Amino acid sequence: MPLLHHDNSIELNDIIKNCWDELTLAAQSSTHPYHFPVLGTNHQNEVELRTVVLRAVIQNEESLVFYSDFRSPKINQIQENPQVSWLFYNGESRIQIRIKGLAKIHHQDEISHQYWKLLKSRNKRDYATILSPSSTIKNNKEVDYIKDGNDEQLFDHFVGVTTEVTEIDWLKIGSDSNKRARFLKEKSGFMGEWLVP
Ligand SMILES: Cc1cc2nc3c(=O)[nH]c(=O)nc-3n(C[C@H](O)[C@H](O)[C@H](O)COP(=O)(O)O)c2cc1C
Repeated sequence: MPLLHHDNSIELNDIIKNCWDELTLAAQSSTHPYHFPVLGTNHQNEVELRTVVLRAVIQNEESLVFYSDFRSPKINQIQENPQVSWLFYNGESRIQIRIKGLAKIHHQDEISHQYWKLLKSRNKRDYATILSPSSTIKNNKEVDYIKDGNDEQLFDHFVGVTTEVTEIDWLKIGSDSNKRARFLKEKSGFMGEWLVP
């Protein structure tokens, strides 16, 4: 039995290491299946889901990063309740990763400034709408943008949101059987355990 336990620990360690490595690769590649995860927030007892771009993985802080517009509803929801969920699925390996964590909004600080410097000009246009995202408009030709060149005004709308990961739920669908493991963050690091899939 001790050997089995030891063996299991190695497999759990490999799984969580692989999760972080794949997520890190995904942040760098738009063709990686984990590049466009679903982010869940909570709003007045309703669940809100949307696709985001996984922009960065900070392995030593065990956190994930996405960018957004400060004025968008999701940011308000995170301010009210920073508990968020992420959902990733890789159809090739048939691995699903569900992550829970605490989100922190970086607005007009040193960290958001670092992310802003990394953005290409064409991506900065996402933050150039004059009206806030989700404002109603009479027709779809009515979207007005801040004129090119006003970097400061666009930066004012930009946020980098980090999620400090507290829980990872890993599920692999196999041809014979499925495997599932959960990792909970404790003071000493992530502790893994097997779950019935
Ligand atoms: C492929 C794809 C990538 C997206 N990436 C982001 C993103 O990184 N950040 C973001 O705020 N919205 C992103 N969106 C838009 C959101 O899914 C969502 O529609 C929008 O931000 C409004 O969400 P909210 O009303 O919950 O704030 C993306 C949408 C798609 C389809």
